Amino acid sequence: SNLDALYRQVIMDHYKNPRNRGVLADDSVTVNLNNPTCGDRIQLTMKVEDGIVRDAKFEGEGCSISMSSASMMTQTIKGKKIEEAMQLASVFSNMMQGKEYDDSLDLGDIEALQGVSKFPARIKCATLAWKAMEKGLNEQQQ
Ligand code: FES
Ligand code: FES
Repeated sequence: SNLDALYRQVIMDHYKNPRNRGVLADDSVTVNLNNPTCGDRIQLTMKVEDGIVRDAKFEGEGCSISMSSASMMTQTIKGKKIEEAMQLASVFSNMMQGKEYDDSLDLGDIEALQGVSKFPARIKCATLAWKAMEKGLNEQQQ
């Protein structure tokens, strides 16, 4: 459909022109995570201040789904409160399970990946960056 074609374009754009690629300074939260099924990895750094994700960058190697998802994720959570970022993670998780999700939130481009729910082998690719984000923010809150 046209929507699928549009979503494919959005995914490829994030893959070819990743947003927020790089590493933030030492005082940020750093998470390294592997996708156990393929060994691909991501490093996520986030600057969290006053309960707000001020900045986020990622590095890593992976397939187009994992890298575009990391790009979309960082773009979407920047400037959000920790609780909002966590809510977005649960929206994305529901999306990946093909469940209904709260689309009243500012979802950015992340809906472009909703088709991944039909390909169970790829879901771990799409969720890698989100798992890294949740891990980092959970550690931050302790
Ligand atoms: Fe199989 Fe990503 S782990 S496609
Ligand atoms: Fe490894 Fe997708 S195949 S992250």
